[in-house]
Amino acid sequence: MIVAAFSTKPYDCEFLTRASAGTGIAWRWFESRLDAETARLAEGAAAVNCFVNDDLSATVLERLHGLGTRLVTLRCAGFNQVDLPAAARLGIPVVRVPEYSPHAVAEHAVGLVLMLDRRLHKAFNRVREGNFSLDGLLGFDLHGRTVGVVGTGRIGGRFAAIMLGFGCRVLAHDPYPDAELAGRGAAFVPLADLLRESDIVSLHCPLTPATRHLVNADTIALMKPGVMLVNTSRGGLVDTPAVIAALKTGRIGLLGLDVYEEEADLFFEDKSGSIIADDVFARLLTFPNVVVTAHQAFFTRDALEAIAAQTVRNLVHFQRGEPLEAVVGA
Ligand code: NAI
Repeated sequence: MIVAAFSTKPYDCEFLTRASAGTGIAWRWFESRLDAETARLAEGAAAVNCFVNDDLSATVLERLHGLGTRLVTLRCAGFNQVDLPAAARLGIPVVRVPEYSPHAVAEHAVGLVLMLDRRLHKAFNRVREGNFSLDGLLGFDLHGRTVGVVGTGRIGGRFAAIMLGFGCRVLAHDPYPDAELAGRGAAFVPLADLLRESDIVSLHCPLTPATRHLVNADTIALMKPGVMLVNTSRGGLVDTPAVIAALKTGRIGLLGLDVYEEEADLFFEDKSGSIIADDVFARLLTFPNVVVTAHQAFFTRDALEAIAAQTVRNLVHFQRGEPLEAVVGA
């Protein structure tokens, strides 16, 4: 079976090739992102394989369907990039990798918390330049601080457990409170209470129409002055101009981002030789109290192995006409 894989990097090809040995899957690797223009590359492929910034809008899905695509497989957990009603109308199942390594993302979020708190990004550069002054590096103990976790699914639950281990008080918000996490000491509270009381707010809920711009001027106004905000979930959860305004006034004291609403034209590529045209993103990079990583939270060897294994399992089930696992929206 021919599978057209979009937005691929050498590491995708390496892990997927290894995982699919002996399955009869014939990969066609495309570095380009899937969009209305590049969809034609999928001609003859029964399945496409996509990543977070591929465009799976109704137009693209219709084009793929016309070219013979009958399955969409995602190399990621999030599926906000897919027009699910359009896929259902066309009879194209969409399968994903719901769980690969919640540890990878949760641990990266913790990494951002520690980096921002202890100004490790500044300390790294300073020491290398022979400057051993501590001025401006003052942090705070995590122990005893209040951490708000928005979304306590696989990743948020793991993040909350780690923060409990640091001795933090954990406030959680989720429409489906996790009894086990509550038993470990997290208190489930309404979002407004979480925002009012937390020293650190970390986002781990999916991007849906209901959660888009969950962090906006109004919700920022509820947060503690000087709060640390961390987003490793999806860029669209945050209204970036509102966050920039709050960074300017000091309302947001520290910001850690692994995702950005308009990341599709920036992340995963080497842009070091070009001019960044996105003024909002460029402004973010000027703040000394902001750390941005380029959607790398998932990027561990363990996660890539698990993503490849589940992706191949999804494709083999389809190839054999067996019931599909991990169908989105099922
Ligand atoms: P999950 O589905 O296990 O958990 C999501 C949780 O959010 C669920 O418990 C759900 O009830 C909750 N939720 C839904 N609406 C909410 C709302 N309005 N307020 C609070 N909670 C709400 O998903 P998982 O695996 O934990 O992933 C979370 C997100 O992390 C994904 O949607 C994805 O966007 C992002 N992600 C980011 C990665 C990265 O590399 N930066 C990698 C993998 C996932």
